[in-house]
Amino acid sequence: MTGFRRRWLALPLLAVAAFGTVAATRAPAPVAAPRLPGTLPRFPDFGLLPAPEAFVPDRTFRLSQDYPKVLPPLEPALQRLLAIDYTRDWKAYAEATLAYVLAGNIENRDLQGTFFVEDNKVRPWYHVPWMHWADNGREGLHGLTPEGPIRVGSLGPQQKNIWQTYAVGFYNARGGHAIGRVWTDANRPDINALQRQGFPVGTVVAKILFTDAPVSEAPFLSNPIEWSAYIKKQFSFTPTGFPIAPRAVAPVRLIQIDIMVRDSRADATGGWVFGTFVYNGLQAKPRTPGQSFDNRWRNLMPVGLMWGQDPKVTSQLAGNPVPVKTLVNPDLKETVINSDPRLPPMHLGFGLRLNGPADNAISSCKSCHSVAEFPDISPVVPYAGSFDTRNLVCGGPEWMRWFRNEPVGQAFDAGARNFDNSLSLAMSVINFLDARSRADGGSNAVQYWQGRRQMTHGNQRGGGPDNSPCPPATGAIAAR
Ligand code: HEC
Repeated sequence: MTGFRRRWLALPLLAVAAFGTVAATRAPAPVAAPRLPGTLPRFPDFGLLPAPEAFVPDRTFRLSQDYPKVLPPLEPALQRLLAIDYTRDWKAYAEATLAYVLAGNIENRDLQGTFFVEDNKVRPWYHVPWMHWADNGREGLHGLTPEGPIRVGSLGPQQKNIWQTYAVGFYNARGGHAIGRVWTDANRPDINALQRQGFPVGTVVAKILFTDAPVSEAPFLSNPIEWSAYIKKQFSFTPTGFPIAPRAVAPVRLIQIDIMVRDSRADATGGWVFGTFVYNGLQAKPRTPGQSFDNRWRNLMPVGLMWGQDPKVTSQLAGNPVPVKTLVNPDLKETVINSDPRLPPMHLGFGLRLNGPADNAISSCKSCHSVAEFPDISPVVPYAGSFDTRNLVCGGPEWMRWFRNEPVGQAFDAGARNFDNSLSLAMSVINFLDARSRADGGSNAVQYWQGRRQMTHGNQRGGGPDNSPCPPATGAIAAR
């Protein structure tokens, strides 16, 4: 135990030290994010890096953490985005958001060098701190954190094994301002900062997801966008984040890009528009003249958008867990799914609400994210796998709490603080307290709140649960 503790306490320091060594001995030196002269970063960049003798990266992940103190204005690109009626032209809204997210992050560099957001000359982006902590902490090559497993069959019938997903999320300047309000004092996060208003309108969040699934088990990943990342050798999950699973530098392939936009037109259904894109390397898109980025970025296809949970819809309970073609639930009015026949077969979420290929088939984007709160009283999913002892009835009243349209600013559970759909920001506070509690010699303090056992948000994001209590789907219509 002391061994672990010592190792962990040393880690933030190690991360900074390792970075220094790399910069001193290897060219090209990483581009430093602008910081006030003489100040150190307040938050560690990452928690896990391969030993120097095992792997020397060209550059390491930098946490973008100079959160704007004053709320930045709505830039013209955001004004144009927020003027698109997503109920009439959902694809234009999704594509405009993706273009906003990619701009400045992919041009004039090799694939491995994409999404070092400190290089972005178009607009700044910000990361959530305190995701470096423990076994599921950020790795040091691209800042990726592990997600839940992609269970057998969720990428289609060819998928015979469980695979891992790794992801990194980032916020635009308006979102970065809100992160900074929670973390103004690096030693005392403000858990009340997002009450009532939540994030400012015009916050855009994106998350890019990579998997170690091979192309043979997910043909739509062919011609992949690949990164080298410091990942676990296989999926593993310990509820406390200890002990540390063995890792290695290995290739991961882009599978999905998620977007979230805080849009006041969605206030009646919770305030956010969620969307997702799947990588489809089976389509050959022509390169456009003058294009400055790798053509593979054009292989991303929108899966759909959701701006509400359709709280009353309990049809198609089990969704489409092993997709051969994408099925659409015609009862859903607040989710829209792409009907393009080139879309790889998608399992989607509970009742065929929106979810991505790496997501949990009995959940939805908005369902999981609506549970962003501190403390994390409820798990993010109504059924969390075979160890879940709550035995909720699929589609029953208690189950449907995960499919409400909560008003902006309201926490999922009475007595919790609202984190307005930001699961990573809620997690940052939980991780911080966990680290403090360990450092102070207490071990479990943060896992309990008002006498209730906590379930952690991390790693509950798989391709679908084992033994789902939901019956098989019938009668949905094919997307095309
Ligand atoms: C089963 C739960 C689950 C589902 C379903 C889910 N997410 Fe998330 N999402 C998470 C967790 C947990 C995090 C934070 C930790 C991380 O990034 O690994 C997260 C992070 C994000 C982030 C980064 C900002 C943040 O809130 O931390 C975005 C953006 C995002 N998700 C969008 C989506 C979209 C869009 C969908 C649907 C296509 C979706 N998510 C589905 C659990 C889920």
